Amino acid sequence: MGGVADAVSNIDDLAAGLLSLSELHAFTLRIDPQNFKILAHNILVVLAMMFPAEMLI
Ligand code: HEM
Repeated sequence: MGGVADAVSNIDDLAAGLLSLSELHAFTLRIDPQNFKILAHNILVVLAMMFPAEMLI
């Protein structure tokens, strides 16, 4: 979750701010991009379980 906080602090220029992290995952670790979708969904599910009132519109 520290990486998410890092992204928030670079919100004005995400592409440049997270370039080294992006290159690490894409080229060094060679993570299948599908995993980012799964991780994002997992984070949403946990947030909805922890803060149900805030997650409902
Ligand atoms: C929102 C998405 C993600 C963020 C913000 C994120 C963030 C990070 C950060 C901050 C690091 C540490 C980099 C460093 O040590 O300099 C890292 C490492 C790593 N990440 Fe991610 N990550 C994300 C998604 C993923 C996914 C989907 C996978 C794989 C399924 C993954 C696998 C890894 C691995 C294997 C490492 C290296 C761990 C190690 O060598 O100790 N990451 N990530």
